[in-house]
Amino acid sequence: MAMNMIKIPTIYFGKGSLKELKNIRAERIFIVTDKIIWELFGTKISKYFKKKEVKIFDAIEPDPKDTTIIKGGNLAREFKPDLIVGIGGGSVMDSAKCIYFLYEREDKNLYDINPVSYFKLGQKSKLVVVPTTSGTGAEHTLGMVITKTDTGQKVALASYEVIPSIAIIDPKLAMKMPPKLTASTGIDALVHAIEGEINDLNNDFTEAMNLHAIKLIFKYLPRAYKDGNDEEAREKMHNAASLAGIGFGNSSCGIAHSCGHALGGTFHLQHGIGVGVMLPYVLEFNKPKCEGKYKEILESMNITYEDPTITLVSKVKNLLREIEIPTILKKLISDADWKHNFEKLVEFAKTDIVAGMNPRPTSEEDFRKIFQYAYEGKNVDF
Ligand SMILES: [Fe+2]
Repeated sequence: MAMNMIKIPTIYFGKGSLKELKNIRAERIFIVTDKIIWELFGTKISKYFKKKEVKIFDAIEPDPKDTTIIKGGNLAREFKPDLIVGIGGGSVMDSAKCIYFLYEREDKNLYDINPVSYFKLGQKSKLVVVPTTSGTGAEHTLGMVITKTDTGQKVALASYEVIPSIAIIDPKLAMKMPPKLTASTGIDALVHAIEGEINDLNNDFTEAMNLHAIKLIFKYLPRAYKDGNDEEAREKMHNAASLAGIGFGNSSCGIAHSCGHALGGTFHLQHGIGVGVMLPYVLEFNKPKCEGKYKEILESMNITYEDPTITLVSKVKNLLREIEIPTILKKLISDADWKHNFEKLVEFAKTDIVAGMNPRPTSEEDFRKIFQYAYEGKNVDF
């Protein structure tokens, strides 16, 4: 990939845009989803593929295991689709991207996926994704987070070639999310936009996406959380999550994500909760490198400040409280569990693929301290 490039799928957005599925030219459709989503939307989607050969793979679980994905890849290889559709949240979309890779390259294994090789994907099929949550932005990113069945570690794979051809951003699909899922996926989108914005790879194009996403999320996430039937808030959040996906997907995220992945792999903390709790502490840790960026974020929302870090951190903490996500890890993990698994947690975080992408370099000792401060709810002062 050229250094300066933004890769974005064709985007259909707005209420009812799901029907664009029927205009996609294809004869054999392989659908990747999970059981809940298929129960909710299966009938509707099947109508769009009348008279076509369709195979449904609805076995994707949260934090999808490599073994499940490989099974899906084998089924796709047997079925030989000319279109792969991933419909669901981040786990489903990431799995669909992996399955697309496995189908396109039958000579390769899952862990051959990497961001530097050119695989010539797209010879047999194309990939379309439809997010049903407003958060992960996985419809725009090159990354896929999967769980290694043998160790339980969540690992990130990446290839620019798995960025889908088409993303359908229909807010009607997100209306069914319960409040807790609205909160955890919505805060994930905020972490994407902020980590994308303060990252060294941020540029004029991603900045436009990130700053607007931040603004929309602060405004509309509390509304979507309090009233799931607030159509305007749902639509704005659905768009914001996608904008943040483009923003951080074409720059990078940072250690809120390394820590979030590690918390997920160690304590099975939901992704959005893990990254959301960590964000204030990571913002404080990144202060020496990012204060100027914090000013830009606040100014873009017309918020006045004396100390930009203090103001931004308190704004994030207030949002967390509004959507009832704890601001300290102690509320989520018992002391015994924390102590028993602490070494594993640090190991997972420091070896995470995005650990090296944080604006402030992060040592093992830093990770230890950040986790401990986040556990106890202390302001980061190192
Ligand atoms: Fe995320």
